[in-house]
Amino acid sequence: RTDATPFLPHTPDPDLPELSEAVQGCRGCELYQDATHAVFGEGRRGAPLMLVGEQPGDAEDRAGRPFIGPAGRLLDRALAEAGIDRERAYVTNAVKHFRFKSTAGSTRRIHATPGAGHIRACAPWLRAELGAVEPDVVVALGATAAQALMGPSFRVTQQRGLLLDWPPEAGPYAGVQTRTHLLLATIHPSAVLRADPQTREEAFAGLVADLRVAAQALP
Ligand code: URA
Ligand code: SF4
Repeated sequence: RTDATPFLPHTPDPDLPELSEAVQGCRGCELYQDATHAVFGEGRRGAPLMLVGEQPGDAEDRAGRPFIGPAGRLLDRALAEAGIDRERAYVTNAVKHFRFKSTAGSTRRIHATPGAGHIRACAPWLRAELGAVEPDVVVALGATAAQALMGPSFRVTQQRGLLLDWPPEAGPYAGVQTRTHLLLATIHPSAVLRADPQTREEAFAGLVADLRVAAQALP
């Protein structure tokens, strides 16, 4: 089993520019093969809030930047409505390369959910981002991010919208020394986009309400 570790910078506490340069050379799992770019996080060291999504989408893969497509526009609206200044958020994904299926006779690329093995392989990048940014609060957007941060048995449906102690005693970050001590899990913005028209507004309002809870915990 391989992971991203050999591709991280060898300096002790790599900063964000070093990490985002190094991630382009990552071959920690097979997802680099078909993607256009690795998509690293954006934001500043010391940002009080870190938002973690699943993986880049089609638009993000082409642009090399996180959350710039339809899900990103929805996220921007939700942040604004929750009163969170975009400048205070560092935005990234649990997996840095786009996983997709191609369809025969079409150039369309269909999103495929990353597997547990991809999340595990890519975890060293997220871990390094958390170490460099040291946010006060982490928000997991959807199940992939929540499981990357809390462990595979975590269920967003059962614990969404709650400020949880982080890192938990069990799970991938157990025992990590960090100034980050709170996590909130919520739905992924794409889940709002996928909701049918009758429930979409309610789903959006739920996302905004959860983000407000996270905002209230910021210094
Ligand atoms: N969905 C994600 O999880 N991340 C992105 O960057 C874009 C869409
Ligand atoms: Fe490396 Fe993550 Fe890309 Fe896999 S998805 S190649 S682990 S950066």
